[in-house]
Amino acid sequence: MKKYNIGVIPGDGTGPEVVEESIKVLKAVSKKYNFDMDLEYYDFGGERYLKTGEILSDNDIEKLKTREAVLLGAIGHPDVAPGILEKGILLKLRFTLDQYINLRPVVLYDGVDTPLKDKGANEIDFVVIRENTEGLYAGGGGFLKKGTPDEIAIQESINTRKGVERCLRFAFEYTKKRNKRKKLTLCGKTNVLTYAFNLWERTFYELAKEYPDIETDYCHVDATCMWMVKNPEFFDVIVTDNMFGDIITDLGAVIQGGMGIAAGGNINPEGVSMYEPIGGSAPKYTGKNVINPLAAIASGQMMLEQLGEDKAAQDIENAIKKAVKNDIKNLGAGKMGYGTKEVGDLIVSYL
Ligand code: IPM
Ligand code: MN
Repeated sequence: MKKYNIGVIPGDGTGPEVVEESIKVLKAVSKKYNFDMDLEYYDFGGERYLKTGEILSDNDIEKLKTREAVLLGAIGHPDVAPGILEKGILLKLRFTLDQYINLRPVVLYDGVDTPLKDKGANEIDFVVIRENTEGLYAGGGGFLKKGTPDEIAIQESINTRKGVERCLRFAFEYTKKRNKRKKLTLCGKTNVLTYAFNLWERTFYELAKEYPDIETDYCHVDATCMWMVKNPEFFDVIVTDNMFGDIITDLGAVIQGGMGIAAGGNINPEGVSMYEPIGGSAPKYTGKNVINPLAAIASGQMMLEQLGEDKAAQDIENAIKKAVKNDIKNLGAGKMGYGTKEVGDLIVSYL
């Protein structure tokens, strides 16, 4: 029997609750498709930091490198200053494991409410590919004369030819493999960020020559936001930098029914990838059995796709589709008509 080595980082807040449901579903589907999982749990997160002062050591990272994939709940703790855990754990993992793609599907399932008027499952079905290791997130910059009236704060966007090219290459390949509308939109800001997005744009059209079957399109980030609301059906695959990708995927999440269902993958195609619901730790809902685990369950589905368990992944997606069509009334925390655990059970019952 095939056995996958999976790392599990339940993390903070509601992370552990949603990860538990995702694991429940993965275990159910593994029985059906005859594969096994060796789950290794790691206690990285706010609680461990508060207790021991440890954030994420080189040894922690070495352990993760032995895994074929990682499932993550959420990182962020109300008693820890903003940035410490996010940069010290989540971003550090993305960077050191070189997970240079953040793949975030924006799919509206039948029966799910979207705030967009007159738009449904046929119109909202695209994927955002966010560069995940560079740009404004790379940490370039600093203060001068900090705390004085002459203070200067510089935050640099780092864009390397190599980093941009590998992200764009992934996006072209993904669009080809997805084989839907075969349209790739570069989202940037070439009219103002004339260095960074000039590099992106030049590289984009260079690579495009190798993919004559793929329609290419360019959209400024502000216009992208407008079209995502007005005509989301324009999009098939969007590729963009780290910061813009962060912003437009929250917009994407809300048009697909909210953070309760938005899943993502931090992908290193040649290394260890990490799958996570994009919603965060939602501390106010912690321990109440009200948070929606579907995003974590869908992240588990994405993980199975990477592992090559396509049928099992498809089964999970079908079960999610049935549950949101037939049973779950609203995807928001506390409004589902089911508890967190019950949603997990419901998905299992549809498998
Ligand atoms: C996300 C989150 C993170 C990001 C934060 C928590 C650092 O918003 O995964 O989108 O900005 O990438
Ligand atoms: Mn974000």
